[in-house]
Amino acid sequence: MSKLPLQFLKTPLLLSILVLVSLAFQVISQNVNTEKTILLNLKQQLGNPPSIQSWNSSSSPCDWPEVICVEGTVAGLELDDKNITETIPATVCDLKYLTYLNLSWNYIPGGFPKVLYDCTKLDYLDLSQNYFVGPIPDDIDKLSSLKHIHLEGNNFTGSIPPRIGNLTELQTLYLHQNQFNGTFPKEIGKLSNLEELALAFNEFVPSSIHVEFGQLKKLKLLWMRLANLIGEIPESLSNLSSLEHLDLVGNDLEGKIPDGLFLLKNLTYLYLFQNKLSGEIPQRVETLNLTDIDLAMNQLNGSIPEDFGKLKKLQLLSLFENHLSGEVPPSIGLLPALTAFKVFTNNLSGVLPPKMGLYSRLEEFDVSTNQFRGQLPENLCAGGVLKGVVASENRLSGQVPQSLGNCNSLHSVQLYSNNFSGEIPAGIWTVFNMTYLRLSPIPPGVSSWEKLVVFKASNNLFSGEIPAEITSLPYLSNLLLDGNQFSGQLPSKITSWKSLTSLNLSRNNLSGQIPNAFGSLPDLLYLDLSQNHFSGEIPPEFDQLKLIFLNLSSNRLSGKIPDQFDNLAYDNSFLNNSKLCAVNPVLNLPDCYTKLRDSKKLPSKTLALVLVFTVTIFLVTIIVSLFMVRDYQRKKAKRDLAAWKLTSFQRLDFTEANILASLTENNLIGSGGSGKVYRIASNRAGDFVAVKRIWNNDKMDHKLEKEFAAEVQILGTIRHANIVKLLCCISSESSKLLVYEYMENQSLDRWLHGRNRSSSMGTSSVYHSVLDWPTRFQIAIGAAQGLCYMHHDCSTPIIHRDVKSSNILLDSEFQARIADFGLAKMLVKQGEAHTMSAVAGSFGYIAPEYAYTTRVNEKIDVYSFGVVLLELATGREPNSGDEHTSLAEWAWQQFGQGKPVVDCLDQEIKEPCFLQQMTTVFNLGLICTHSLPSTRPSMKDVSEILRRCSPDGNGEKKTGAEFDVAPLLGNVTRLSI
Ligand SMILES: *[C@@H]1O[C@H](CO)[C@@H](O)[C@H](O)[C@H]1NC(C)=O
Ligand SMILES: *[C@@H]1O[C@H](CO)[C@@H](O)[C@H](O)[C@H]1NC(C)=O
Ligand SMILES: *[C@@H]1O[C@H](CO)[C@@H](O)[C@H](O)[C@H]1NC(C)=O
Repeated sequence: MSKLPLQFLKTPLLLSILVLVSLAFQVISQNVNTEKTILLNLKQQLGNPPSIQSWNSSSSPCDWPEVICVEGTVAGLELDDKNITETIPATVCDLKYLTYLNLSWNYIPGGFPKVLYDCTKLDYLDLSQNYFVGPIPDDIDKLSSLKHIHLEGNNFTGSIPPRIGNLTELQTLYLHQNQFNGTFPKEIGKLSNLEELALAFNEFVPSSIHVEFGQLKKLKLLWMRLANLIGEIPESLSNLSSLEHLDLVGNDLEGKIPDGLFLLKNLTYLYLFQNKLSGEIPQRVETLNLTDIDLAMNQLNGSIPEDFGKLKKLQLLSLFENHLSGEVPPSIGLLPALTAFKVFTNNLSGVLPPKMGLYSRLEEFDVSTNQFRGQLPENLCAGGVLKGVVASENRLSGQVPQSLGNCNSLHSVQLYSNNFSGEIPAGIWTVFNMTYLRLSPIPPGVSSWEKLVVFKASNNLFSGEIPAEITSLPYLSNLLLDGNQFSGQLPSKITSWKSLTSLNLSRNNLSGQIPNAFGSLPDLLYLDLSQNHFSGEIPPEFDQLKLIFLNLSSNRLSGKIPDQFDNLAYDNSFLNNSKLCAVNPVLNLPDCYTKLRDSKKLPSKTLALVLVFTVTIFLVTIIVSLFMVRDYQRKKAKRDLAAWKLTSFQRLDFTEANILASLTENNLIGSGGSGKVYRIASNRAGDFVAVKRIWNNDKMDHKLEKEFAAEVQILGTIRHANIVKLLCCISSESSKLLVYEYMENQSLDRWLHGRNRSSSMGTSSVYHSVLDWPTRFQIAIGAAQGLCYMHHDCSTPIIHRDVKSSNILLDSEFQARIADFGLAKMLVKQGEAHTMSAVAGSFGYIAPEYAYTTRVNEKIDVYSFGVVLLELATGREPNSGDEHTSLAEWAWQQFGQGKPVVDCLDQEIKEPCFLQQMTTVFNLGLICTHSLPSTRPSMKDVSEILRRCSPDGNGEKKTGAEFDVAPLLGNVTRLSI
């Protein structure tokens, strides 16, 4: 103040004003001083968290980032995400002007903080995402000035007290994601200023929506997803004239949709999917602001309202899995904002709106499993952003629209089981039409469908040759053209098919030889060429394939089948090809040598020459041999020992001679896809080791040998309580022995499913007892930790690639240990001892992206682990949905149909006190098996969530979304292609 220019002090008036101002200033600064004391006190009582170190006595509170001042007094505290672990001290209400308090995202324990009742001016209170427990107190209405209250993401329980209806100033009431297990009161209907009401994700006792909620004239948001609602949607909700967002997803609501809902002028989102709503969709529609309508997975019947064609802002129209019939109003095809049209699995008929796609930027189009006839709309991709065309299982006919050939964005096309006819027009595969093609060769990689991953057009009437252009699609992973009338030869230039994993051309009229190039597809897993007219030999290159399924039956193939397939795993792969032969007698094919003798009768002159030559060679050989025998005998002993090479990773109390001598049938404890497993006493003290013997009949190629050695080296050095220790590796040219620590209780698979299969496995009776839930839970945690370590804590992350319950071993304490990282998988392709069950055993565990990309990451392990979690929670086998669905698909179906989780859990061990944990594990299994890898949590998250829900888990920060399976629902419906 001394710096003020003195001339301002000249008049008495100015002087007195100045005195007044300075007085006021003193009052304020005194106030600030006391407030500073209060705040420093508060900081102390909050345990001095490092996050608010800037609160110190040398600066003014109004300069502290967490403090909001209005006219020099403290009006608000922004203390979200500050690592606060103490209860809220009463001191906070010494701040007389406090109106705003945000303590969200901390670790504040205890019951609802009643001390805040003294903060009489408080109008905004955010306690969300903390560790609060217990009920909301009955006298909550003491906080009478409250306008906004956020309590979501805590563990509040009990009922919501009726006196909450006295908080008449309330505009926001967020109570979602808690553990309320009582009721919610009708008095909420008295909150005449309420704009947002969120009760979602609570297990209330089953209740209907109170009629009184219809009085909330200012309500914009009503969010009661998964809140255990029953009964009908009250007609009174039609009075919610301000309503913009209505979400009642995943409840048990039944009856009709009130007519009035579709007359609410402000409604923009209407989410009612996954209930039991029935009756017709209201036909009079005036909700012209609607952008999203999702009524999927109900029991609605009748037709799609004509009036939907008036909804100029509509982006999402999702009506799948209902009983809707009739035609789709053509006006829907004219909607300017429509991006997703999903009506699959209904009884819709007639012709699809012919202009669909022409006026909007359509991204998703799924009309499968209906009775549509006529043509597919011509302009679906006019907006240039179409990702999927799914029209399978209808009666569509005519040609596939030429225009789809120019659709760069397409990712999936599924047209199977229709009556499409004609050749697939060549133009459909390339930007350039045929005229252009003649003028200039296609530069590599400009095919219009360059990004196409899946093309499925099975069971139509397509004819002509397989279009050559299809071979230039580098990302194509699934090509399914079975059940058509394609003819001519297979294309032989297929070097672009770097990503192809599934190829099905069965049931066509294809002929000629199978080109050698088909044996060089690096990632092919599934190949079906059956029921065609292929002739000639199977290319020897097929030996390089890593197939899990092969069918060449019912062709005219001849010659010897490649060695790799000469075993029982392929006993159905070569049926009905009368000229094929095999060396091994197991396949029911004629013996090649007999065949050779029979078929190749040589002319007698040649025969004589060959005879003379052979005799000469024979004599020479005998003489040379005589000279060599002595030498050989001397070296033999030496060589036998040298043939085995031991690589050890720790001090061993056995030698390779111990091990080699004990590889006998008596010690055999199992055999699987990659070899046999022996239990061998490693010393006199009676300790055992498990020895896995892996064959590779042919000499391993040098590269693989090196890879194997490198991987063994990495695994040998890993020490983790949940990973089976690899003690050493003993290798020779023809087989590898991996010596592991022996696990008393063998594999989880045997404990979970052994009883069902014990007859075929001849296992001992211990597996007849049931693994109780606490043990299963402990196994889940242990296995998760093992995988988490491999993914996140190794210097280079290691992906297992074959997580399954048979690779989770159990020690004498039933602690889980993960076995077989990578190694077996690497060798199984080389070895010959496949058995179908071993290969098929992994089926239920394979992440869907395996089918369409080879660039997999550790999320494939998360998927497989999710299946293990589902096995633990349900007791079901991984491939046990029904004959076409896996356990994961089954679980998602149950979830999709709104079946209570408890009904899915393992009956044998289900006890009330375990339900919560079992449910969590089931839900976690669901999230882990989400079809989008990016949506799956990391193993770190998985391990953390499990640890936190264990009885002795000490939790850290919640992530909020961790148990919300439901929000994923929107995406999961049809992503699996
Ligand atoms: C909270 O604590 C964690 C772990 O100690 C730390 O990483 C984080 O930075 C802290 N947050 C704040 C806001 O200080
Ligand atoms: C608050 O609500 C309760 C029950 O809803 C009612 O009995 C009581 O009179 C109300 N109190 C005040 C102060 O309005
Ligand atoms: C909240 O509930 C979850 C789920 O039951 C539980 O894991 C967690 O320990 C609870 N937290 C507190 C602080 O009670």
